Amino acid sequence: MKKESKYESHKPNKDGIVTYSDTENETWDFLVSRQDRLIQSRACKEFIRGVELLNFTNKVPQHFEVSNVLREHTGWAIEPVPAIIPAQEFFELLANKKFPCANFIRTKEDIDYLQEPDIFHEVYGHSPLLTNQAYANFMQEYGKLASTVSGKVRMRLFRLFWFTIEFGLLKENNEYRAYGGGILSSKNETVYAIDSDVPERIDLNDPMTAFRTPYRIDILQPVYFVLNQLDDLFKLFDHDLIALAKESLELGNFAPKFQPKDTTTNSQSVMS
Ligand SMILES: [Fe+2]
Repeated sequence: MKKESKYESHKPNKDGIVTYSDTENETWDFLVSRQDRLIQSRACKEFIRGVELLNFTNKVPQHFEVSNVLREHTGWAIEPVPAIIPAQEFFELLANKKFPCANFIRTKEDIDYLQEPDIFHEVYGHSPLLTNQAYANFMQEYGKLASTVSGKVRMRLFRLFWFTIEFGLLKENNEYRAYGGGILSSKNETVYAIDSDVPERIDLNDPMTAFRTPYRIDILQPVYFVLNQLDDLFKLFDHDLIALAKESLELGNFAPKFQPKDTTTNSQSVMS
């Protein structure tokens, strides 16, 4: 069932420019300033480098400004979308080196968390690593692979996407660092994922474990999967991911490490 949202993309003018209000620009500036401080000791070096390359100002960026930087480094671009889009369209865009992104920004009431992927989540959380070739290559190949399946198998591929692109950790000089956009666009999750002793952190050597691990989208994650380095993302393709996804459906889920409120496998929510 689709939830009604108060958020919807702005209509750009004929030159593709969106005019943001002072309040919206203040929200962007507040979020970027706060997150810039938090990520210094918690994001992987490739992410921090991407943030530097994007050189955000105190105003909400226009899509074309972000695309110009991505194109220069990896050939990627932002694809404007009105809001959440269907799964097939989402993965086909990735396969074509286009990252779907709405242009609305959260209100002050939702400053620390919102379920809908806004421009802060998409642009601050994901686009820095789209300047990195290893990450960009993974995203494109994942888009190609996931475009070929549907139904429950695709939902399993969302799950691996969730544990990598959204909530992935890696090791850097024997310390945990985040590369997942869901972590790095969230103040609370950035601190929790790296600093807390509570969550479980599991090496992502065997994607089957991730395929069988359920998650909820609306809580701090009880489990994070860890790569040895960002370049190892692409090594996931050494496995036959579709075969593993199918097998994981037969084997079933591990017991959830969260209260069973809403064991979300809502694909719409993952496509952020
Ligand atoms: Fe996302």
